[in-house]
Amino acid sequence: MITWGWSGLSHDAALAVFDNKKLVFASHSERYSHIKNDEYLNAELIFDALQYGRPDVVYFYEKPLLKKTRQLYSGQYNLLLSESPQSHLRKFGINVKFKFSSHHKSHAAAGYYTSSFKDAAILCLDSIGEWETFTIWHGKNNSLNKVYSQGYPNSVGLWYSAMTQRLGLKPLEHEYILMGMAALGDYKKYYNDVKNDFFKKLPNINDPSIIFKNNLHRGCLLWKPDLKSEQDYYDIAAATQKIYEEIFENILIWMKSNIDSSNLVIMGGCALNCVANTLSFKLYDDVWIMPNPGDAGSAIGCVLSNWNQYIDFPGAYLGHNIKGKYPIDSIIDKLLKDKITAVASGKAEFGPRALGNRSILADPRGKTVKDRVNKIKHREPFRPFAPVILEECVHKYFNVNKGFKSPYMQYTLNCLEPNKFPAIVHYDNTSRVQTVNEYDHPDLYKLLKIWYNKTGCPILLNTSLNIKGEPLVNSKKDALRWSKKYGVEICLPN
Ligand SMILES: [Fe+2]
Repeated sequence: MITWGWSGLSHDAALAVFDNKKLVFASHSERYSHIKNDEYLNAELIFDALQYGRPDVVYFYEKPLLKKTRQLYSGQYNLLLSESPQSHLRKFGINVKFKFSSHHKSHAAAGYYTSSFKDAAILCLDSIGEWETFTIWHGKNNSLNKVYSQGYPNSVGLWYSAMTQRLGLKPLEHEYILMGMAALGDYKKYYNDVKNDFFKKLPNINDPSIIFKNNLHRGCLLWKPDLKSEQDYYDIAAATQKIYEEIFENILIWMKSNIDSSNLVIMGGCALNCVANTLSFKLYDDVWIMPNPGDAGSAIGCVLSNWNQYIDFPGAYLGHNIKGKYPIDSIIDKLLKDKITAVASGKAEFGPRALGNRSILADPRGKTVKDRVNKIKHREPFRPFAPVILEECVHKYFNVNKGFKSPYMQYTLNCLEPNKFPAIVHYDNTSRVQTVNEYDHPDLYKLLKIWYNKTGCPILLNTSLNIKGEPLVNSKKDALRWSKKYGVEICLPN
């Protein structure tokens, strides 16, 4: 029995394949089409998915007709005649039984049924699906019970995206840049303005609702602050992030007192805010964020939402496979000689982070590495790179207890020796850490072990292997094109 889960037709299409109850493949359309956030499926992605057999049933991540009622309400008349999921798939010769999930239940299911928790409080926070923008669930005894729901147009995600656009960035894509800019700003300067101008009500211990003064679906480009200097932009980013963190924390306080669980699951696009995610540990003993918590991850979630069943989640390495042996020796050799290298090997990561299979890797020590990698990637100079570290060493270099795990780069930790590793530490001395053990990724673990033995350093800089303006490198052909264009030799499987 082959089952497909599919999200898309609005942005960032993704496809997941289950062979019986086993998740065997998941990838993003953009990785094949090279169109950032591509909303449509394509023949190359379908070809990879069909390697596991033709689907018997296809699940879709939201309810198109319900969504159209909201689009009608919000004046998105141009979207009312958009094609149906069934007719889109028929273009690729797939004409099978179709089932639908609701947008937020797909998020909740993608989180709960891939977690190891028997019971959990689940927060889904995003921009917009059909009507819902913010839901809270209690996962218990294999079922999901919705305990709170908030609807359009009151949306924290839409507000954060509107602020992203107000700072001259691309909404629904560059929110992570706003988060990075926040570390350079002083939140106090615009804190009251942002709060007073946008919010009618914020969440509190008795009521998690968030009410905005205006509908921010079309952005807030007319919002008044006179942005004179670059510092003003950083200060607004800092105020936005600070208020988001307060909203997030207050929602968690409400959840903690209304749902009897010490486990937390966070899903929806807002779960990519790794600075806020880190605050969860103040209130919850254990936290799970599926490595692709946004809408693309709902390709998995829409299937699980219908099955109401846990799966043995295999991790984030689910995409296109560049077959062969992980090139440990050539990576070490290049790192020792040149300090910077790249790798494209094994199954591509499903989700926004490169976690060692489509990565640029570098020695994180020394003052010049950050500039050299930034030059290759043409990135904003204020943005730091992430460290990947042996899990058993994380407490020696970051302010966490021994045994802390972060295999998907979802939290920021304080670095204990920021001066030693300037390339992987942000202006506020934090790092978005990836920990690796021998089960998460045996080859990357072995690579780090050898690197540690040779250099005394258990950390590498890890950043995504992508061509400027394009999604993450996917195939061997993409990798060779990247290597030729940027003059960095790439390590492919042996
Ligand atoms: Fe969503």
